[in-house]
Amino acid sequence: MNKSLSNIVVLISGSGSNLQSIIDNANDIGINIKCVISNKANAFGLERAKKAGIATQFIDHTQFETREDFDQKLIQHINTINPELVILAGFMRILSTDFINAFAGKILNIHPALLPKYKGLNTHQRAIDAGEKFAGATVHFVTNELDSGEIILQQSVPIQSIDTAESLAKKVLAQEHLLYPKAIKKALGLR
Ligand code: GRF
Repeated sequence: MNKSLSNIVVLISGSGSNLQSIIDNANDIGINIKCVISNKANAFGLERAKKAGIATQFIDHTQFETREDFDQKLIQHINTINPELVILAGFMRILSTDFINAFAGKILNIHPALLPKYKGLNTHQRAIDAGEKFAGATVHFVTNELDSGEIILQQSVPIQSIDTAESLAKKVLAQEHLLYPKAIKKALGLR
């Protein structure tokens, strides 16, 4: 094992197309993906990880009484790995303060909008409805305020008059796949 690689953990809930891009670019980024964790048993991203020979962990949030209890389990598991970064890639859970504090300055998220605009859900439709000329994606550090931490990199995507939320989501997602590996590399360089 190359000792200069940075250990990371990736958290997912679904398709994991961003995870796939991170896997495909791991050598260039200089990372070793130690584990992919999902809160959904059927997340396709788990298959992607297994195919790449990466350890996977399914932690079912419905088995915990509170968000905090689930997050404690996550914290315990991630602490056994002690990663340099915790990468959120379509992880559809709001994280507790305890989790964010446990990995302060180490958690990255990708959001499908040009933050600080369009925090939260349904970003593409809201951008179209507002008559925006550009949509895009943002990779940022995660803090206790939703979608508000320091921005690492952004990529804009023009909105055309024929765009729907679906067509825009596809174009933005393609850009996300290019953006996330670059942003991880940059974040590691900032540390
Ligand atoms: C992406 O649109 C990302 O911006 C958002 O969740 C989606 C994840 O897609 N946070 P995938 O699972 O990486 O395909």
